[in-house]
Amino acid sequence: MQYVKLDGGEKMSSLRIRGGRRLDGEWTVGCAKNAVLPIMAASILSDDPTTLLDCPNLSDVKYMGDILRTLGSEVEERGHEMRIDPQGISSFEMPDDLAKRIRSSIFMLGPLLSRFRKATVTFPGGCEIGMRPIDLHLAGLRQLGVQVREEGGMVYCDGSGMRCGSVHFDYPSVGATENAMMAAVTLRGKTYLHNVAREPEIMDLQYFINAMGGKVSGAGTNTICVEGVTSLRGAVYRPMPDRIVAGTLLAAAAITGGYIRLNNAPCKDMLAIFSKLQEMDCVIGEKNTVVTLHAPKRLRAFPQLQTQPHPGFPTDMQVQMLTLATLAKGTSIVVENVFENRFTHAGDLNRMGANVVVNGRMAIVQGVDALYGTKVQARDLRGGAALAIAGLQAHGETIVDQAHFIDRGYDHLEDMLSALGADIHRE
Ligand code: EPZ
Repeated sequence: MQYVKLDGGEKMSSLRIRGGRRLDGEWTVGCAKNAVLPIMAASILSDDPTTLLDCPNLSDVKYMGDILRTLGSEVEERGHEMRIDPQGISSFEMPDDLAKRIRSSIFMLGPLLSRFRKATVTFPGGCEIGMRPIDLHLAGLRQLGVQVREEGGMVYCDGSGMRCGSVHFDYPSVGATENAMMAAVTLRGKTYLHNVAREPEIMDLQYFINAMGGKVSGAGTNTICVEGVTSLRGAVYRPMPDRIVAGTLLAAAAITGGYIRLNNAPCKDMLAIFSKLQEMDCVIGEKNTVVTLHAPKRLRAFPQLQTQPHPGFPTDMQVQMLTLATLAKGTSIVVENVFENRFTHAGDLNRMGANVVVNGRMAIVQGVDALYGTKVQARDLRGGAALAIAGLQAHGETIVDQAHFIDRGYDHLEDMLSALGADIHRE
């Protein structure tokens, strides 16, 4: 996939969708962006090369590779295989321009501290969905003895006094949990992390670190134990499948009254998504890593959806479900408890004929009989995908501009939806 560099104002791309086609087909889910990114960061915990299998072609993954290269690592992408050779890493200072480009650059904090006992990173900017502060990341590192100085938009970390111990998070932040895990990997003794995030991608990071020779346990529960080791080796690793891409494709089939079979789906990590789709009268069949969905002709409104840290309903699937609710029979209430501004696409949905009223962290969605295609704009990754889903069932043509937002987390969404029978093209 050629990445359009967005700093030079080169051509942005759009998705053009002609609605009304019932989706009916099969797709095999690829690896999860939110597993691959922290795992790429963790690869520098060793001097040996790591190979990641089945890596998705995503702009966030490409930018993370650029960050590793700038620090001195060799990163080679051969199709969906990525080889990272970190032995040339000589800098603990994150490149400013790249660090601002993707939030996940903050995942470099822990590994840099583990490798150099020093790290300098830029405050990653906020984004459309929220301020995205890093206070929990820094609080966790301070509890490990890191001296943190914040000055002029930079974060200077001195880990010379780091030691094993106990960390308690005020909130189960995914990124802060992952940073603390990676920072503690080479600390002599046992470190206990309490009130941690329990997302499946954190379990995947644990499996990857242990494949490198680390000793991490407890991921997926609210306490993680990291037993320090003196060195780690490289690994060959296939990151877990993407539960959010899988959920997005289920939602795409559901809005069209269609059928879908997903292979390589992390079903055990998707129970909250399945249950909400069943509330809307979808028939879900699941066995191991295969899930099927049969949608009703018209979806029933779910009375309420509240996003929560895992295993609650995932915030990254909220916008897709809100979109389904716009055409469902009845009224739905959506409460976004994780991010402060995750209804960015509601305005465009209303321009398509939906009836969404947003009040702070709550959206009230009264189902309508039809949506109508028009020109809309992606403003963030999942909101863009949700607008494409709306276009699948809207009358006429929908054009989703700024499709590069969608490319951050979907490896050619148009190919996935076309394979399922949608009339969708990138232009
Ligand atoms: C990860 O972001 C994911 N990104 C997000 O996916 C996902 O939405 C989020 O976890 C929640 O599941 C990656 O894994 C790369 P958090 P992260 O720290 O780590 C606040 C997508 O669409 N907070 O759990 O940034 C924060 O503002 C993306 O794929 C602090 O206040 O999520 C937010 O309100 C979007 N201080 C809440 O906690 C901090 O120091 C959850 O954030 C850190 C976070």
